[in-house]
Formats: sequence, C-alpha cells, structure tokens
Amino acid sequence: MYIRAGAGLSEDASALGELTQGRSEQGKGRPERMHTMKKSLWTESLTGTEPIGRSLLGCIGNTALLRLERLGRNYPNAEFHGKAEWLNPGGSVKDRPALEMIRDAERTGRLQPGQTILDATSGNTGIAYAMIAAASGYHVKLCLPASASEERKQILAAYGAELVITPGDEGSDGAIIRAREIIAAEPGKYFYPDQYSNPANWRAHYKTTANEIWEQSGGRLTHFVAGLGTSGTFVGTTRRLKELNPAIRCVSLQPDAAFHGLEGWKHMPSAMVPDIYDATLADASLTVKTEDAYRLVKRAAREEGLLLSPSAAAALDGCFQVAASLQPGEQAVFVTIFPDSGTKYLSERFWDEV
Ligand SMILES: Cc1ncc(COP(=O)(O)O)c(C=O)c1O
Repeated sequence: MYIRAGAGLSEDASALGELTQGRSEQGKGRPERMHTMKKSLWTESLTGTEPIGRSLLGCIGNTALLRLERLGRNYPNAEFHGKAEWLNPGGSVKDRPALEMIRDAERTGRLQPGQTILDATSGNTGIAYAMIAAASGYHVKLCLPASASEERKQILAAYGAELVITPGDEGSDGAIIRAREIIAAEPGKYFYPDQYSNPANWRAHYKTTANEIWEQSGGRLTHFVAGLGTSGTFVGTTRRLKELNPAIRCVSLQPDAAFHGLEGWKHMPSAMVPDIYDATLADASLTVKTEDAYRLVKRAAREEGLLLSPSAAAALDGCFQVAASLQPGEQAVFVTIFPDSGTKYLSERFWDEV
C-alpha cells in the first residue's frame, strides 16, 4: 500500500489506537493509480500494514493562511491574511488548546480514565472538549452562559456533552464560578482544565499556531493582530513570534465595552482577568466596536466570499485600524486569526440590522 510521505501517524492517532482492521485489504490492488502521484508526496510502504487516511485529532492545526483579495484595498501598503481556524475538525481555534490541555493532563496524571472533563466555556472550547473527549472516551460536563448561541448548544448536545446553563447576564464569569462550585463539591470526580489559568492553553499556540504563521508567511509578517478571550491565542503566538523576530508588532484587541456581541472576547477592565494573560506582551492594545465587526461580517461574506464569525471580523477590523495608522511609505504584512466561521451565528439578528 502507499502512504503519504511525511504524513505518518500523529502522536494522537497512535495514542488513540486508531489502527483499523482490514487495512492491508484496503491497500491491496490499489497502487496502480497511486503510481502516477509525485514521488515527493507518496512513498511505497515496506510492510503494507500502515493505516490509510488521517485520524480526526491528527487533523487539528495546519490550517490555511488565507490572503484577502479585496477587502483591504483601501490600504495599498498592506497585505492582510487570516488563519482559517474553522478548518479544524471542531470548527474553531479552540481545538488546539483543548487538545494540548487534555494531553498534558494525561501525561501528568491529572486526567485519569473514568473521570469527567469539566470546564466553563462560552462555546468553542466546549465544542473542542466534547469532540476530543468523544474521540478519546471521556465524559464532558460544561458550564456555559445562557447567552451562548443556540447553534453552539446544539452542537455540544450532539457530541454528548452534559450542559449546565448559567445566567446570560453573568457572562463567562458566571460560568467559571459555577464550574468551581461543582468541582469543590466533588473534587475527585472531575478534571478541570481551567483554560483561563492553564499554561497548556497558550503553549498550544506557542508550539503550533505561531510556527505555522511563520512558515506560511515565509517569515514576512510585520504585524500579528489577535483578539483576547482567555488570551491563550495572543499570548502563546506572540511569545513564539517575538522569539522568531522581535521586530514583529503584536497588537491585542478587546471589545470597546463590557456589554458586547463579540462572542469569545473579553473586556479585560470589567472582567475576571485570566491568570495566563500577560498585558506586557502587546506592543499596542486596541478596541473594536461590535457594530463595526457586524458590518465587516457582512462585507467579508459578500465582497470576499468569506463567512466570518463576529470575532473573526473584529480581528480584521483591528488589522484595518493598525493599517490606517501606518507611516507614509511603510509596507506591512498583517496576519490575524479567524477563530471560527459565521455558520454558528446565522440565527443572530445583526444580519438584518446592520
Ligand atoms: C470565537 C472566538 N473568538 C476568539 C476567542 C479568543 O481566543 P483566546 O481564548 O485564545 O483568547 C475565542 C475563545 O474562546 C472564541 O471562541
């Protein structure tokens, strides 16, 4: 049988024991067509026993870096790019930290077979936990605010997660407090990744997101711009990018007000500040108005064919703000993160209102 060179079993695939029966049967008699593939991509297996296909969890990361073709035309000195994180199997950037936190806990013995994974999440991390847990044999219990979108709740339920809904007006902080109460009542029953305090959250981006950006941009990026939720994306990616090139300007983004519609983002002055957040890392910190992000969601869909989430559009708005302040003649190559796509936000009212 033939396998893709360099795409050998990932750590996750082998850890999960995903070797399927009948592989050698699948491999038999097929290579004829494969022989026409380029040598650099395909190699002949010596044993004929390797699995074909990729493991689900092995598909996390290595997302496309999309280049904007039209939306940035008002800024001729700048190029704009976004990591299409909806291409992760759980549909968001959160697959990366969720996998890193779970694997780290397994390695260090903090997560044992039979334990339940419990955390507070506004949605995407929960979806990632639920997907990874289903693929790894764990039960998941999640505290999330009632304000989280219906689509997200439905996806979580589909993966079999148990949901504890907390008051919408308490936001993600209310969900965190509830999760801590549940753990305190029965500590041995749960593994609490605590994405707001867990260094494995930002390390996932330090190890993967940043290095992908560096390679995919050929080291040409001048600016990295990202929104703050737990801050894991910004902190981990910035730490690594600054090691690779300290001249890269790293700009963090927040909503402009405590009450906002940028799901996944935190307004730090009025919120419980995550332990992993390091405010000293950013070269600049900007705010984004929810309305501006909503307008950009619609423009991105119609002018670029990109169905962005509000937080992805807000990240792009942040890039445009920085581009507007470039010095005359200054060239800039922006990279941002598109944390998820617009598909989970289709029932929101802004589509008709902005
Ligand atoms: C849609 C969305 N955007 C942005 C973020 C922020 O990412 P981070 O928590 O790494 O700061 C999140 C986090 O949950 C999110 O769900």
